[in-house]
Amino acid sequence: MIGVFDSGIGGLTIVRELVRKLPEYRLIYFGDTARTPYGTKSPETIISYAIQDAEFLLEHGAKIIVVACHSASSVATEALRQRFPEIPIFEVVSPSVKKALAVTRKKVIGVIGTRATVSSGIYQKKIAEIDPEVKVYGNACPLLVPLVEEGWLKKPETRRIVKKYLIPLKMRGIDTLVLGCTHYPLLKPIIQAKAGRRITLVDPACEVAEEVAAFLSTHPEIEAKLSKNGKHQIYVSDLTEAFEQVARLFMGRKVNLLKADCEMY
Ligand code: SIN
Repeated sequence: MIGVFDSGIGGLTIVRELVRKLPEYRLIYFGDTARTPYGTKSPETIISYAIQDAEFLLEHGAKIIVVACHSASSVATEALRQRFPEIPIFEVVSPSVKKALAVTRKKVIGVIGTRATVSSGIYQKKIAEIDPEVKVYGNACPLLVPLVEEGWLKKPETRRIVKKYLIPLKMRGIDTLVLGCTHYPLLKPIIQAKAGRRITLVDPACEVAEEVAAFLSTHPEIEAKLSKNGKHQIYVSDLTEAFEQVARLFMGRKVNLLKADCEMY
């Protein structure tokens, strides 16, 4: 199975793209709704949660792992690779970096995300490794996750907050903006409207799905291990009606959430 984990429900934006791109593969998702959000927590806490999330997926038959959460991708990828050296681990930052570098014309890129993601400086680091001339500016947008989870996708208040968050990045002259949080693809219309037509948005959900598909087509030994009946299991560490509603919003259809039965919570 393809295993995907996230701090909560937001990673379903990645599941949606994976299912679109790789419909035949069986997928298992774990959303840590009992401890969401991760973006406000310390790197040490995020790393220990990420390891537990990956263990849950592996115990339930995952053969590869996709870290859907940007906060965990930013601070926990190295720790996960050290802990599970035999498991292919994908994260959302590297494919977004690749895409952002491919589309920027002026070599000025903006990144919006949680506090954990932005203060990790991971985008600056990865982009500088490839092209040190590119300027990267980040802005943490902590109010956007709760707004999305409340379903405030078109409210004037959300528009005003998005506008405010984008001002410092627009003042830097960015021409490319990475949506560095699982929740932001749902705000794409507002973000594009406030960013303006000249700024290209990079949606990591599409990029990571492409990367997993490319990997499977060149690694038949791993591909052969994946079950292919297309049935998916979506687990959460805490189950409420509100999470079910948000899951519907993220997947664009009703989702059957299963409560994870595990001792770590
Ligand atoms: C969070 O856990 O704070 C939001 C999800 C993310 O970082 O992508």
